[in-house]
Amino acid sequence: MSISISSVSNTTTDRGLTDRVNDGSFTESNPSTLTFTTIDLHNFLRTRRSIRRFKTDPVPDSVIQNILATATFAPSAHNRQPWRFVVIKTQEIKENLAEAMAIDFERDLTRDGLPLEKIQAQIKRSKERITSAPVAILLCLDMSEMDSYPDEKRGQAEQTMAVQSVAAAGMQLLLAVHAEGLGGVWACWVLFAQQTIQNALNLSESWEPQAMFFVGYPEIIPEVRERKSLDAVFVRR
Ligand SMILES: Cc1cc2nc3c(=O)[nH]c(=O)nc-3n(C[C@H](O)[C@H](O)[C@H](O)COP(=O)(O)O)c2cc1C
Repeated sequence: MSISISSVSNTTTDRGLTDRVNDGSFTESNPSTLTFTTIDLHNFLRTRRSIRRFKTDPVPDSVIQNILATATFAPSAHNRQPWRFVVIKTQEIKENLAEAMAIDFERDLTRDGLPLEKIQAQIKRSKERITSAPVAILLCLDMSEMDSYPDEKRGQAEQTMAVQSVAAAGMQLLLAVHAEGLGGVWACWVLFAQQTIQNALNLSESWEPQAMFFVGYPEIIPEVRERKSLDAVFVRR
């Protein structure tokens, strides 16, 4: 399938890509039905938002699969594709996972000396995040096919390359979610409970949790969050 990018016309609609593929309006034989202008594409990239509140409507498996397939088109160091995904839709599994993670959070926050009511509020919020999203997608890093080195410096660089590759897939996943008319948010706090998540989901030791994405049809689309001015983040040399 090819998407034609043109500066001439725009026939995109609000419907998700999967809808357009499934109803036949986007096929290899008529790629011209999906023609984007450069401005459309920049607008698309700039209109993604982190969505934290979802409608209860279920997300079809075919849509999730399409999103994951697009995520795997991210670039990766040596093209080793060290990303792994776990799709969680079953309520019981979400609840078990939320309970297991809460034990780690409570232990860490107690050690931090946080007052009990603040600890409880944070735990309640994290449990609600997991259990209320129609879909949770855990993104893992698998180092087993990356290169290994005898020295720590290059070993650390290789680890960084792999983490960057996984993050690229995470970004691509969020953009595919956006393309489907869905909303999603990146949650990084799985990094604080990696082993617990591996145990709760019965994952291979080599699948290291890096991020979790909550995905569903948006209930609220927030305003754009303020961006630093370009001048503050780039220089010319
Ligand atoms: C690595 C990373 C970790 C993040 N972790 C969280 C998180 O744990 N909880 C959360 O609500 N949002 C999280 N976010 C989303 C950011 O808060 C959000 O991207 C940022 O505020 C800009 O808003 P926008 O995505 O709507 O443009 C994370 C984003 C990234 C890239």
